[in-house]
Amino acid sequence: MLFYFSATGNCLHVARNLDDNPLSIAQELKKDERVYQDETMGLVSPIYGGELPTIVQDFIATSTFQTDYFYVVLTYGNLDTAAAEWTYYFAKSHRVNIDYIGTIKMVDNYLTAFDMNEQMAMDKHEDEQIRQVKANILARLP
Ligand SMILES: Cc1cc2nc3c(=O)[nH]c(=O)nc-3n(C[C@H](O)[C@H](O)[C@H](O)COP(=O)(O)O)c2cc1C
Repeated sequence: MLFYFSATGNCLHVARNLDDNPLSIAQELKKDERVYQDETMGLVSPIYGGELPTIVQDFIATSTFQTDYFYVVLTYGNLDTAAAEWTYYFAKSHRVNIDYIGTIKMVDNYLTAFDMNEQMAMDKHEDEQIRQVKANILARLP
């Protein structure tokens, strides 16, 4: 089971590489009760200001996840800073234990700071990064 939030498609692309049927967090939030159970669970989200987008924070804070292995993949455009640590402790404060967090540098969609055409022209070796993170998840790395 894999959840994702994506504004411009990076996270959707990653999510589709990791799972055949990723679930949209925006859609899941419409459900009144959110209790999820699966052997492995994942969440793909962009980094916003070194943290998670509010919608993803809300989803984590108000859902129950029952799983043996919970992984998170964060995409970003420039610097992932301490977003992985921030995410780990945010989830922990809502009684969600994250086993693995990977980050993937992709096209930056923060348009006030970056030019989209320049970003699209850059090769950030995204497929290579996705392959590596997928291998880590399949190996159930901590
Ligand atoms: C409001 C906003 C804040 C962002 N903050 C960061 C940031 O702190 N660091 C970073 O490297 N990229 C940042 N980005 C870029 C996104 O994290 C990145 O482009 C991500 O892959 C977008 O995923 P999506 O296409 O699935 O929405 C930000 C983008 C937006 C729109």
